[in-house]
Amino acid sequence: MTLKSFLIGMLASFGLAWMFVIAIPVAKMNHLDPVKMTDEEDSAYYQRKVSGRVLNGSNIYAAQGCYACHTQLIRPTYAGQQIWRDDMAGVVDSEGNDTRRETTYYDYAGEKYAQIGLMRMGPDLSNLAHRVDKYAAKVNMTSEQWLIEHLYDPRNNDIRLGDGGERLEMNWSNCPSQRQMFEQKEISGQGHSLALQKTTEQGKQIVPKEDARVLISYLMSLRRDDALPASMDFRPKKQSEEDKK
Ligand code: HEC
Repeated sequence: MTLKSFLIGMLASFGLAWMFVIAIPVAKMNHLDPVKMTDEEDSAYYQRKVSGRVLNGSNIYAAQGCYACHTQLIRPTYAGQQIWRDDMAGVVDSEGNDTRRETTYYDYAGEKYAQIGLMRMGPDLSNLAHRVDKYAAKVNMTSEQWLIEHLYDPRNNDIRLGDGGERLEMNWSNCPSQRQMFEQKEISGQGHSLALQKTTEQGKQIVPKEDARVLISYLMSLRRDDALPASMDFRPKKQSEEDKK
């Protein structure tokens, strides 16, 4: 082998690879323009902001394995009729506002893990916060208080009322209780504002620790109702006045 053919061989083996893997992609992607989300200039799309307490709560959610039984994924309509399941994909209120939609990848922006979930043993939590507002209103609690009660004892029969105001039996729930996130304290003064309704001992109350409250901040942020660019908006078509006739 001559030196010349050796050098040409080296150049071909390394040079071509360098050209295709580095030089050409760099040349192509050096000047990418930002993709405009709509036709209108500067139309701002608001995304659910996940930071601070909510982000910490998301990490606790992951660490506690909530994703093993709870999904956060409203399937596209070709793969299941989920938009029409009550309060799952969003809500329709009495004023006709409709927040129902499928999940898009924007819904996971800002979180460390996309909490898609492993299987749907419990209900999908994409729009949990909307539902909790309703559950809590029925039993005269705040949403935070309701979630605290559920976190401590998912089999609590006093926090669920049906549409007719009847008590719902929850003994079947296998949602794990997170009692390690609570502690018993002496009642002092008026007591803790987020203490559980039930007490176990006279003069004591059960109060959520910091990690329970952080997890609940996350759960209360779970509503996927922000506006989306038209190309990703798959909500059901609004019935026009013409159709109704
Ligand atoms: C073993 C499976 C399992 C795991 C793990 C689990 N859950 Fe559940 N979860 C369920 C089931 C089943 C239900 C439905 C019964 C009920 O409401 O208690 C449920 C219901 C819920 C609800 C009420 C939802 C609604 O709309 O009615 C919330 C809130 C909830 N779980 C939060 C959590 C959190 C937070 C974690 C992690 C700390 C968790 N779950 C872990 C099975 C699970």
